[in-house]
Amino acid sequence: MNLVIFGPPGAGKGTQSNFIVKKFNLHQLSTGELLRREIKNQSQLGKEISSIINDGKLVSDDIVSDLIEKYLSDDKFKNKLIFDGYPRNLAQARRLDNLVKKYDQKINIVLKLSVSLETVKKRISERRVLEKRKDDDEEIAIKRYVTYEENIKPVIDFYKHLNLLKIVNGEASITEINSEISALIEAI
Ligand code: AP5
Ligand code: MG
Repeated sequence: MNLVIFGPPGAGKGTQSNFIVKKFNLHQLSTGELLRREIKNQSQLGKEISSIINDGKLVSDDIVSDLIEKYLSDDKFKNKLIFDGYPRNLAQARRLDNLVKKYDQKINIVLKLSVSLETVKKRISERRVLEKRKDDDEEIAIKRYVTYEENIKPVIDFYKHLNLLKIVNGEASITEINSEISALIEAI
């Protein structure tokens, strides 16, 4: 099974992916984490993207598609991927659709975690104390939220049309969301 999880910053994509990884023996592919690793390692790619990420904007579709193709083409992860934070716009949704077909796989379920901007601000400011992510400054977190809102509508429509979209209330407690997601996955 391959699964997509998306939602605004602080929606709980990473938190819920961790839980799904353990319970369903899948592999989490967070494009945000892969990109932050490039920045940390000061790779050529890392140098190119750090100002974009720290400004709350999206890096280019080509860069993230290349990253995810590495995983989709690896037999070790075949039908075992959680796409955390990908796709984020319609072009990426189409790319993902083509790539899964190219590697003879499919997306089985798409989870959208919905949370308000107020919740985003609260969660990000709390996480900032612990994790010190550079883009967790309140102003940048708001920019990330706006970037999300600007791009996501056609992605939602794309997955609705394919009958894959499940909307999950991201405002509930972590364990309540765990249970809701488990039930949705088990029902596939
Ligand atoms: P990315 O790393 O994906 O960041 P994001 O989308 O802003 O999401 P976060 O990781 O901040 O939040 P999350 O939903 O994972 O929440 P979490 O579980 O940590 O992307 C970063 C950047 O990389 C982007 O801005 C962009 O520049 C670039 N990028 C990435 N993907 C890209 C793509 N496809 N295309 C182009 N560019 C891309 O939870 C947050 C906090 O809340 C935690 O402290 C957690 O403990 C807490 N929490 C979680 N759930 C709950 C709950 N239910 N109740 C209470 N607290 C909770
Ligand atoms: Mg995350």
